Amino acid sequence: MKRNTESNSELNRRRAFLKFIIAGAAATLVAMGNFLRYLMFIPTNAVRGSEITWPVLKIINVRSLELLKPFRFNYPLIDTPNILVKLGMKAENGVGPDEDIVAFSNICQHLGCFYNFLPRGGFPSCNPSYKASSMEGYCCCHGSQYDFTHDAKVIGGPAPRPVPRVILKYDEKTEDIYAVGMGSPTIFGHGPEGTSDPKLVLKYDLEGGDIVK
Ligand code: FES
Repeated sequence: MKRNTESNSELNRRRAFLKFIIAGAAATLVAMGNFLRYLMFIPTNAVRGSEITWPVLKIINVRSLELLKPFRFNYPLIDTPNILVKLGMKAENGVGPDEDIVAFSNICQHLGCFYNFLPRGGFPSCNPSYKASSMEGYCCCHGSQYDFTHDAKVIGGPAPRPVPRVILKYDEKTEDIYAVGMGSPTIFGHGPEGTSDPKLVLKYDLEGGDIVK
């Protein structure tokens, strides 16, 4: 009887040891996977537990982009629209092989209308007498203008601040472009207008809707 009890406790000890080894090996594999993911830039959506981080979204492959033709996509929420353009000229914070691809929130910082992209020399249908002096976003509601080559700096109209930039990442191997965050200020309608602290921008921009996947 005593011998049986001893052999059971030895068995339990071995089982516990085996579990410990398996758990350690699994944790090591996860850590190695994360490290490889970092090296190879394999993106994942990154909202973990209570820690809030920007989602990562594959937007488009560079080969599918047409020069000066805007591509619209939603980020970081499924109902927050953005506009991405290959400008054909180097831009501040531009990505891609020619550093000429930029993306911005498509919601005007004045009163929240959607604006359109105008190439240099172009004009909006709402104001045919206007001629764009730059690669710009033009809002037909009240005429705000954003310079796409200079981080959407306001160059005309009543907008009080630039539209926020979508932070892009370009994968040289696949030629895919990813959205990996938003710059400041907050997207129009999210949190107190003009909030620029990056932590608050993250908090407010992710509120009020479903995050893209
Ligand atoms: Fe865009 Fe007023 S809402 S200029």
